[in-house]
Amino acid sequence: MTIIIAIDGPAAAGKGTLARRLAAELGFDYLDTGLIYRAVGMKLARTGLDPSAVEPAERTARALAPADLDAPDLRLDAAAQAASKVAVIPGVRAALLDFQRQFASHPPGGQGAVLDGRDIGTVVCPDADVKLFVTASLEKRAERRLKELQEKGLEAIQETVLADMRERDDRDRNRSVAPLVPAEGATELDTSDLDADQAFAVALRLVRTKVPA
Ligand code: DC
Repeated sequence: MTIIIAIDGPAAAGKGTLARRLAAELGFDYLDTGLIYRAVGMKLARTGLDPSAVEPAERTARALAPADLDAPDLRLDAAAQAASKVAVIPGVRAALLDFQRQFASHPPGGQGAVLDGRDIGTVVCPDADVKLFVTASLEKRAERRLKELQEKGLEAIQETVLADMRERDDRDRNRSVAPLVPAEGATELDTSDLDADQAFAVALRLVRTKVPA
């Protein structure tokens, strides 16, 4: 039996950094499940299709290949918006479920898996050994995202970043299938006033109570 760590939370709460560091510390494999939704959304957007169109989105999700996750444009904000649109479509979520569960139960390294996303602890891996729900205030998350964009040399306006994030939060939290909510048994970790090192230290302490070294 491999160990599974499920990390959920809204955009820019710090879950990706945390998940990556936990995986490296424990020698586990890491899957950024947001990337899968981004890949589906961008395959549609690149060909001029509306990511909210149900039939093309479901077809694209069913045909997704691992190489699609390497596309260089998946980190763009356009990809985040397209992802949260395809993510409300039940058939898209269903098509992507197997891939995620397969990774969790058979991670390439065989030791354990860390998955982050919105519904890992609630839907993808409800029996995960450790469940974390990572949050931060909307303002803090928008501030972090703005800094990230500026560091990449991209032009960004604070109000636009905040509005985009609020829109995406609403869509992720209020969709009818697998909405963003803390899973039963999840430990909440608010990173509003923590830096990445502090968040990692708190999370590792928790993980160690369930996954001894
Ligand atoms: O984590 P991220 O910002 O890369 O995710 C992009 C979008 O994908 C997010 O707004 C909602 C969707 N998503 C999801 O619905 N379920 C997941 N497990 C991961 C992401």
